[in-house]
Amino acid sequence: MEIDVFTLFPEAFTWFEGQRHVTGALAHGHRFAYVNYRDHTPLNAGQVDDTPFGGGAGMVLRVDVVEAALRARYGRDPVELRSERRVIALTPAGRVLDDELVDELGREPSLTLLSGRYEGFDQRVVDHFASDEVSIGRYVLAGGELAAMVVCDAVLRKLPGALGHEDSAVEESFSKALEGAPEYPHYTRPAEFRGWRVPDVLLSGHHARIRDWRLAQSRDRAALSRSASDSADAGSHRAR
Ligand code: 6GU
Repeated sequence: MEIDVFTLFPEAFTWFEGQRHVTGALAHGHRFAYVNYRDHTPLNAGQVDDTPFGGGAGMVLRVDVVEAALRARYGRDPVELRSERRVIALTPAGRVLDDELVDELGREPSLTLLSGRYEGFDQRVVDHFASDEVSIGRYVLAGGELAAMVVCDAVLRKLPGALGHEDSAVEESFSKALEGAPEYPHYTRPAEFRGWRVPDVLLSGHHARIRDWRLAQSRDRAALSRSASDSADAGSHRAR
């Protein structure tokens, strides 16, 4: 997979690229590239953003700047680009990233991630250049860089070459193998610590029983998180 990240802060990704699953993916032929909007601004003085029409706090990333950066990278009108590859605008209001969307993105040969800063993008970026608008959760970050890393992390760790074990991405939290449920708990040595014992079944060597226990744990956790989110919903209704 080839991932292009458009950002004002490419240096923010240095740490991320050193992570083992990322270096593994890169060694396997997957590729990252960064485009700094600032390198392509058609404006004097390197300007990339401006104050919002209608007033209000913060700065908005300009549509002409994003167009110039996309055009420089792909050599054509970015309006045509989004029917050929996923161009993802990272915004707090987008489709919330989950395991299903991660799998969907992981099947793409290439991705373009657009990080915003300040108050985000001029809406025309989202309306005319993006194929998707993705959020990593219902809260607001100061910029899209962390969100871009979250998307890349979640997608890359599922690609061949990213993990020590190819199996570890199959049976994990929220996967189809676990019927969309959270993963079962894990334990390692010591088998007992401060009187806290690892469940006996895991030390039993009975693979079938271990498997049943894990699936049951995973289902119990799903039921628990369902009832936790139901009571959070009930709480928010009361608060209104
Ligand atoms: Cl993608 N961007 C920003 N700025 N905040 C967010 C987000 C994205 N997803 C959740 N919060």
